[in-house]
Amino acid sequence: MAIEQNQESDLRSYLTGLEKAGKLARIKKQVNPRHEIAGVMLKAAQQGKPALLFENVKGHDIPVAANLCASRERLAMALGVPAETARDVYRERVSRPLPAEKVRSGACQEEVFSSVDLTRLPIITAHELDAGPYITAGVIIVKDPRSGVYNASFQRILPLTKNRAAIYIGRSSDLMRCYQESGDNPLPVAIAIGLHPTFLLAAAVKFPFHVSEIEVAGGLREEPVRMVTAVSVPLDVPASAEIILEGRLLPRVTEAEGPFGEYTGYYGAGSIAARQSQVIEFTALTHRRRPIYQALTSGPTLGHESSYLSCLAKEAIVLQAAMAVSPAVERVNIMLSRYIAVIQVNDKRRKGDVSQIMAAAFSAMEYLKYVVLVDEDVDIESYSDVFWAISTRVDPGRDLLIFPKMRMEPLDPSTEEMCDKVGIDATVPLDRKEGFKRTAIPNFDEIDLDDYLP
Ligand SMILES: Cc1cc2nc3c(=O)[nH]c(=O)nc-3n(C[C@H](O)[C@H](O)[C@H](O)COP(=O)(O)O)c2cc1C
Repeated sequence: MAIEQNQESDLRSYLTGLEKAGKLARIKKQVNPRHEIAGVMLKAAQQGKPALLFENVKGHDIPVAANLCASRERLAMALGVPAETARDVYRERVSRPLPAEKVRSGACQEEVFSSVDLTRLPIITAHELDAGPYITAGVIIVKDPRSGVYNASFQRILPLTKNRAAIYIGRSSDLMRCYQESGDNPLPVAIAIGLHPTFLLAAAVKFPFHVSEIEVAGGLREEPVRMVTAVSVPLDVPASAEIILEGRLLPRVTEAEGPFGEYTGYYGAGSIAARQSQVIEFTALTHRRRPIYQALTSGPTLGHESSYLSCLAKEAIVLQAAMAVSPAVERVNIMLSRYIAVIQVNDKRRKGDVSQIMAAAFSAMEYLKYVVLVDEDVDIESYSDVFWAISTRVDPGRDLLIFPKMRMEPLDPSTEEMCDKVGIDATVPLDRKEGFKRTAIPNFDEIDLDDYLP
């Protein structure tokens, strides 16, 4: 299938870019949306394979795109920059949101259905105990009933019938605030599926309530997002989306939802029981001609795209907070489990900086349970290098700092929304640097094993 182009940066332009760079694999073999697609996605990402386009999905005529951001390099491609600069470019661009542009018509409405049948979509079931197929790469778009500011976020969606679905809305999310503000009135919503990855990067982050993630998405790709009027609800929707589900979040209605395989690697916050979640009643389905569905999975390891989407933003937030308290802060890597931040510092650190930096990081990001400080000679992307520093540069009695009773992200199954946090100072004392010179073999990088091994 040829990928038709539009003028705007959209999913198709990104897929075409990936394909030209040899980073998109088309899968012709028939695949089952129940577990098989998720299995292939995870294995392919773990083994550093290209992004995937499943063209033959059992029971469906809509292809599934996957693993589009399942590496740092692919995230950088979405931003159009080299991987080494992605973090800095991201930080700079999110601070320059671009207002959306209203357009009269959009490719997302090339085909319009007023009767919604969710079973038409190739929604995947990922994990063993998942309650059913979940829409995972859908961006939920709402307008704050008071201010009119648009909000875009990811929330998992479990179809209940052909035109109703349960949606899990975290209680501290802006979406929950909009839902509560709409009181006894249904809240108009749109689920946009199949967007340019910069949109996903914006939706994965909780920006301040008055900041619209749609404008952030525009800033991230340096091009305004084009929005078109929805067909059945008073809302604008991204014109270039592959698929739009329009509907209403119902006031005071909940249904059993879950379990669902979370990014922690468990099925919930220490329980596999279903929870009561809000309900959407859909009023229209619109899509492009020959639409492409997108799927993603959540999990704690390399290979789950959701980690890449949310860590880039979390790193930017922690870096900004840490830099504000110390001139020694260089870089941040949030390990993919989300709960560990590695912060690289230079020799400009002053008395007290170690604990100031740790406290700033914990305050800025309640997801963090551990903050590890390392020197500039440690590769913060390398788990083995970071753990080598922890094992050889830490005197536990001196270098472990406890920050008592701080708020913790509620999905962590081992804590109950509060816990003591641990800072690990794995830097070398400034006056003892010489004894910590790393061993090295001269000319190591120049050795090409093909010159020696058969
Ligand atoms: C792939 C992915 C799936 C997510 N699923 C959910 C979810 O089911 N429920 C939820 O409350 N947050 C979920 N999140 C987190 C929110 O989307 C994220 O916190 C977002 O910033 C909330 O935005 P808001 O506060 O602007 O509404 C998910 C994030 C990602 C990246």
